[in-house]
Formats: sequence, structure tokens, C-alpha cells
Amino acid sequence: MLNFPIFPSQASSYAGEVDLLYFFIVAVTVFFTVTISLAVLFLAIRFRRRHKDEVGAPIHGSLVLELTWTIIPLIIALVIFGWSAQVFFTMSRIPNQAMEISAVGKRWMWKFQHITGQREINALHLPLGQPVKILIASEDVIHSLYFPSFRVKMDAVPGKWTSLWFEPTQTGTFHIFCAEYCGNNHSGMIGTVTVMEPRDFQAWLAGGRQEGPPAQLGERLFSQLACNTCHLETNQGRGPSLKDLMGTQVKLQNGQTVTVDETYIRESILNPQAKLVEGYQPLMPTFQGLVSEDGLMQLLAYLKTLSKPAAEAQTAATVPAAAAPAPAPAPQR
Ligand code: CUA
Repeated sequence: MLNFPIFPSQASSYAGEVDLLYFFIVAVTVFFTVTISLAVLFLAIRFRRRHKDEVGAPIHGSLVLELTWTIIPLIIALVIFGWSAQVFFTMSRIPNQAMEISAVGKRWMWKFQHITGQREINALHLPLGQPVKILIASEDVIHSLYFPSFRVKMDAVPGKWTSLWFEPTQTGTFHIFCAEYCGNNHSGMIGTVTVMEPRDFQAWLAGGRQEGPPAQLGERLFSQLACNTCHLETNQGRGPSLKDLMGTQVKLQNGQTVTVDETYIRESILNPQAKLVEGYQPLMPTFQGLVSEDGLMQLLAYLKTLSKPAAEAQTAATVPAAAAPAPAPAPQR
């Protein structure tokens, strides 16, 4: 048999929903294209001019006709809007128990890191049936992390973090693409996802680790950059305590409040004065250029372990067999 798939396999929990919506839109488009083309052809022949002196009949519009061709398309458009919003929400709401993986796009490769420390380049191993959240950064230009079989794609944008999630529902190997033109070797910025049975994944995860978990590297970075001299565990330091901070609301100097999430953490490291916490002096220097994208993600992973609920969620998603690795110092830019 010739193996020539028209569509990539439906290998994530929401792939079927995405395809159904897509097929609906294609069906509507095909229906109207065919109907209108046939009508044009039929009317052109049926009402063609038969004599040289023939004059067309005077027509003064039809309210019924105009309402019909306004209201029916309106309803169809609203159905597509409502349906796609529903699919969009499914894809946007990241489940709490999702296993976190970081991805950094760089001309021309995808670098992944698991929460236990394993690094992969242009390859990603995942367990079957486990929701996965991927936090995405870029070291240079805009890339786009694309998993066709999981029906999900997200831009990697320099200077900010983006994220996507999916739950693999099939074992096997699937494509990774870069879906945003990023230079000469854009077409070579590809890789392979390997979805394994959870047992096989745990065995894979237990072998071949070269460095500690990101949270551990983040903790080391936290003291290397001397963050710990100001951000003490108590609120006695020159900077606010970072304990149990993730997900909480903090009051700012300007009277506004902000939720402490990944975006706020990132901004506060790179541009500390942007959203200054109430009651603290603008003393913190910027760490722009001093911390790599990997380093930022490691700092984030460390801060999450300081906040109990997030730390618990991460432990649940981590494999027990892979706990307590022997850390080796990793060079940081
Ligand atoms: Cu990276 Cu295209």
C-alpha cells in the first residue's frame, strides 16, 4: 500500500475537535462555491440575450431576497465564531496537572528541557496520556513551535514567554517544525517527538542525565547573581520575599495590583522598575543581558519551588524514580 497521508495523525486530546471545525468550514466553503458557480452558469444560459434588440426586464430589488442573503450568512458566521471560540478556550486553558517542559528556539534548532534536568535538541520524549505544558522562549528571532499531529502551534518571541499545552493520545513519533521563516536554515529547524508508554518514559527519564533539575540550577543561579542578598526568606530584605509568591496578587507602588505569573517574574528580572512592589525602593538593577533564556527559565523553576501549591503540582507531574539527581555545575552566561 502506498503510504501517502493527506492529514497528519490525530495524536492529541483536542486534535479531533480542531479537525471537525476545519472540515465544517471546508464543507461550508465547498457548498457555497459549488452552489454559486452552478447558479451563475444556469442563469447565464437560461436568461441569455436571444435577439439583438432584446431589453432586460426592470427589477426594483427584493426585501425578502436581501434579508435572506444577509441573515443566513450571519448565522453561519456566528456558528463558526462560537465553535472556534470554544476550541480556542480548550487550547488556551492549561490544565493544572500539566507536566512542564521548557523550549528555547534558536537559529536553527529547538532546545527542550524536562523538569528533571534532561536536555534534548530537536527531539522531545513524552509520556502517553499526560498533559504537557511547554513554556517557549527565543534566543534570537521569531520562531514558531509547531506540532502538526497535536494540532498546535505557538510563536517563540524574543523578549517574552509564550506557552502551549496538549495531551498526547497516541504512541509513536511525530514531527516538530518551525512554522515562522527565520533565516537560511528555517526548513532545517525540525525535530521529532517520541510519545512513549508512561513506563518506558520513566525508564528513559532515569537514564542519561547530565545536569540537575532546572529548579536546582535556578537556585544556584539565584545565589551566583546575588539575588539572595536582597530577596531574603523573610520580608526584612531590601527586596520582597519570594516565598509563596507565585500566583498571588501583589500591590504596586502606583496603587495597581498585579498577579505574580511567569510574565511578571520575567519582567521583574529584566526590567525591575516596570512594576515596583509597594513599600520597596527602586534599587534592583536590570539583569538584561546577564541571564540567558535558559537561565531565566531555571530561575522561574526555582521560584516555583518556593511556592507550595506550584511545587506540589510539579512534584505530582515529576517521576519519583528520577528524583534526587547528582547535580554537576553548569556554566551560565
Ligand atoms: Cu525557526 Cu523558522
